[in-house]
Amino acid sequence: MTDAMLIQEVATRDGFQIEPRYVETADKIRLIDALSAAGFSRIEVSSFVSPKAVPALRDAAEVFAGIARRPGTVYVALVPNPKGAERALAARVDEVNLVCSVSETHNRANMGMSPDASMEGFAQIMETVKGADVSTNATVATAFGCPFEGDQPADKVMAQVERYLALGITGVTLADTTGMANPVQVERLVTRALAVVPAERLTLHFHNTRGLGLANVLSAYHAGARRFDAALGGLGGCPFAPGATGNICTEDLVSMAHEMGIETGLDLDSLIGLSRDLPRLVGHDVPGQVAKAGRPCDLHPVPKAA
Ligand code: COA
Ligand code: ZN
Repeated sequence: MTDAMLIQEVATRDGFQIEPRYVETADKIRLIDALSAAGFSRIEVSSFVSPKAVPALRDAAEVFAGIARRPGTVYVALVPNPKGAERALAARVDEVNLVCSVSETHNRANMGMSPDASMEGFAQIMETVKGADVSTNATVATAFGCPFEGDQPADKVMAQVERYLALGITGVTLADTTGMANPVQVERLVTRALAVVPAERLTLHFHNTRGLGLANVLSAYHAGARRFDAALGGLGGCPFAPGATGNICTEDLVSMAHEMGIETGLDLDSLIGLSRDLPRLVGHDVPGQVAKAGRPCDLHPVPKAA
């Protein structure tokens, strides 16, 4: 038996955060409800960040209040600081995803503070969530390279992972914020991370900026990783990283997994239908390929001989 893959959908967070056209709250809620119905066990719904930094997600509280929560699905919110955690708790999120870059330069551009200041905030947040019915995950952003500083030493990435674990944070995500990772680097870092974080608590977050997204997923999977972030249609990107482009595309990843006999628990037909509706919401074509080409099993009529 091939181990199943757990895919967390991030289109309404990583995807919508960078879209110039504002996606209306009601449209966000409808999409999240449809994603719940398509079988996701984890959805990163939105971010409780400064509305000045990311105006596209200023309606996070309304979105959390409006979605139908499917039993068994974990609804996650990105949180940058203690104020974000307070807002997230008030909105009854199931999980907070704390984000800090390993690159000091990127963290200052993205979060307006040093990584040490982010970590101090996370320690406060861990006090706040004690006793609350909320789980915790933390992301090492730019873990595979920074668009300002370049390579990030694996030892520095692992030191940040250890700091998260020392704070009592349950889940850890290694994020390739601007698609700089390659499969060999992924195999090495995932192997090191799995020595301290069990596979059911480790998530890989890849962007397809340089066309290596699914190659990196396979490399991580073969090294033992089982959880991946992906965005419907391949939307996504950090507004504070030059040249950022989309996450790995959910329906492309699901199609690959199913063709390889790896279960995801997701309904590919529904995902393709939802992806085909994205250009209407965001006002432009989206990068996903399976929604354009159809599934490998969707055969075409034989052309009539001339
Ligand atoms: N939610 C809403 N408002 C917030 C907030 C939060 N989590 N954190 C701070 N604010 C508000 C403050 O109340 C203050 O408001 P005021 O101007 O009305 O008084 C203002 O934002 C500035 O607060 P400050 O603490 O000085 O924050 P900052 O301007 O240094 O910004 C962050 C720091 C972290 C809030 C901001 O950089 C941010 O939201 N970054 C997120 C970026 C992101 O989402 N990137 C993509 C995903 S990785
Ligand atoms: Zn991302």
